Amino acid sequence: MRYLTFALAKGRLAKTTMDMFEELGITCEAMKDKTTRKLMFFNEDLKLRFFLAKASDVPTYVEYGAADIGIVGEDTILEEGRNLHEMMDLGFGKCRMCVCGPEEAREKLQHGELIRVASKYPNIAKDYFYNKKLQTVEIIKLNGSVELAPIVGLSEVIVDIVETGSTLRANGLKVLEEVCDLSARVVVNPVSLRMEQERIRRLLYDLRGLIDEKEGKNRG
Ligand code: PRP
Repeated sequence: MRYLTFALAKGRLAKTTMDMFEELGITCEAMKDKTTRKLMFFNEDLKLRFFLAKASDVPTYVEYGAADIGIVGEDTILEEGRNLHEMMDLGFGKCRMCVCGPEEAREKLQHGELIRVASKYPNIAKDYFYNKKLQTVEIIKLNGSVELAPIVGLSEVIVDIVETGSTLRANGLKVLEEVCDLSARVVVNPVSLRMEQERIRRLLYDLRGLIDEKEGKNRG
């Protein structure tokens, strides 16, 4: 049997995913070692391999078939626009993609003025303004701490992820418009899905069962 390979977006998403896998009896002890410099982790019994990658690289690994399955946020999937099958909403990592800025920017935004929009997600921002709102804006790509942009006058607004809203509040910014809801997703390489149909479907079925059970419990 060949290895089924998983690419996990480094950080909280990977941790939550591995906790869920563990509940399904899919364990990977070596991955829990915080001091390790290893990049690839094995479960020999089940013939599974896991690796951690930068979130924005996960769709690339999956599109090229270097990983059969990827676990990554919907934000990254939308931004990267790769050829993948999006198979399941994992129901965690919930947040929103929003247009944010100071209150003064609201009017400019509504009147369709030519504003500057800073974002780590230029493709999502472009799609929102050009295709959904039919509004011409200038998009400026940044790589982090995007909330700085309106504060220092680089842009009028930003397009970014809002989870708790505390970063916005701490910097005097507000959600001005909502672009879409986001959460963690399972993506699969189209060839892998055909070749390993049974193993992948079984795994997704088990994951679905676990998620439904958890959601049932949360509802009390
Ligand atoms: C993300 C996002 C916001 C923040 C939102 O940034 O870009 O800045 O989290 O979360 P909140 O609504 O709970 O405050 P991240 O921590 O990934 O850092 P970065 O901006 O430097 O990439």
